[in-house]
Amino acid sequence: MRILITGIAGFIGSNLAIRLLQEGHDVIGIDNLAYGLRDNVPPGVVFHQQDIRNKDIYPLFGGIDVVFHFAAKNCISDCQCDPVETADINVRGTVNVFEAAKRAVVKKIVYAESSALYEGCCQYPTAECNESPESFYAVSKMATKYFADSYHRHFGTIFTALRYFCVYGPVQDYRRTIPPVMSAFIIKLLKREPPVIYGTGEKRRDFVYVDDINDFHIRCLTDERTNHRVFNLGSGINYSVNEIYSMIADLLGIHIPPVRKPDLPGEAETTLADISAAQGLEWAPQTDLRTGLTHSIAYIKREMEKGKV
Ligand SMILES: NC(=O)c1ccc[n+]([C@@H]2O[C@H](COP(=O)([O-])OP(=O)(O)OC[C@H]3O[C@@H](n4cnc5c(N)ncnc54)[C@H](O)[C@@H]3O)[C@@H](O)[C@H]2O)c1
Repeated sequence: MRILITGIAGFIGSNLAIRLLQEGHDVIGIDNLAYGLRDNVPPGVVFHQQDIRNKDIYPLFGGIDVVFHFAAKNCISDCQCDPVETADINVRGTVNVFEAAKRAVVKKIVYAESSALYEGCCQYPTAECNESPESFYAVSKMATKYFADSYHRHFGTIFTALRYFCVYGPVQDYRRTIPPVMSAFIIKLLKREPPVIYGTGEKRRDFVYVDDINDFHIRCLTDERTNHRVFNLGSGINYSVNEIYSMIADLLGIHIPPVRKPDLPGEAETTLADISAAQGLEWAPQTDLRTGLTHSIAYIKREMEKGKV
């Protein structure tokens, strides 16, 4: 197939590109490199440095079978600081991608929503019907869902919406001001510095390894049961931040007491996915946390050896 990925220089997009190339597909990628890195884009991808808000992207969708749309402004605290840019990228940019795909009569669009849609919900595990967005990021993702529904209603566009929980693994962006918790702990411990834990460390997160979500992405290419549906992609198990810290310290054999700082505002207490919809399509996460963390540690060590961290 000819597959176009937006946000290809980011974490999930670049990992999917590698998998699709391995499976023999042609991959075209778009990214404006606002957050992602050109080095993340694997050789073999036809790469275009473009902004998803620009109409110049329309010709790139000609002859494409499936679009994976990942490009987004996606750090909740950054989005809280700039709701206008959040809406501009995540809503206007996404609708521009939908429009480009519709004009080119692309067969299917698979796009990223988020577990943040459940921010205001306290039912665990959380099923797909429990949307309760609160932050600007979550609201922007909810808006894209309504646009997808409208494109389907008016033009018959075929969509699959994916609600990722905390995806982790190699290439996860560790350069952010507040990096994802696993990368932050690994880097600090490898540097023999005390990691920071915000709040009590008892917030629980459902982590899912990037290869496991790629298994579901591949399924979306051909399994028509994924059409017109939304799926939670998590592991169905959650761990506290303190538990993650202990597991990483044990794996590294480096134990340094963490520094405790005040809680970060706007972060949910608990996430836990009800993954029965995806399991109903014979999907299940294969990677246990220890194995996944071992791969993440190996990636950060390689980055350190290259002098990038
Ligand atoms: N990683 C997770 O745990 C997670 C969880 C829930 C949802 N998601 C969603 O999955 C998608 C992919 O997430 P990720 O972790 O790979 O994010 P990422 O930040 O690593 O990648 C996003 C990419 O989009 C690009 N981008 C941003 N604005 C753009 C624009 N205007 N035009 C073109 N490119 C632009 C960035 O440069 C970056 O390379 C996002 O939509 C995100 O909201 C991710």
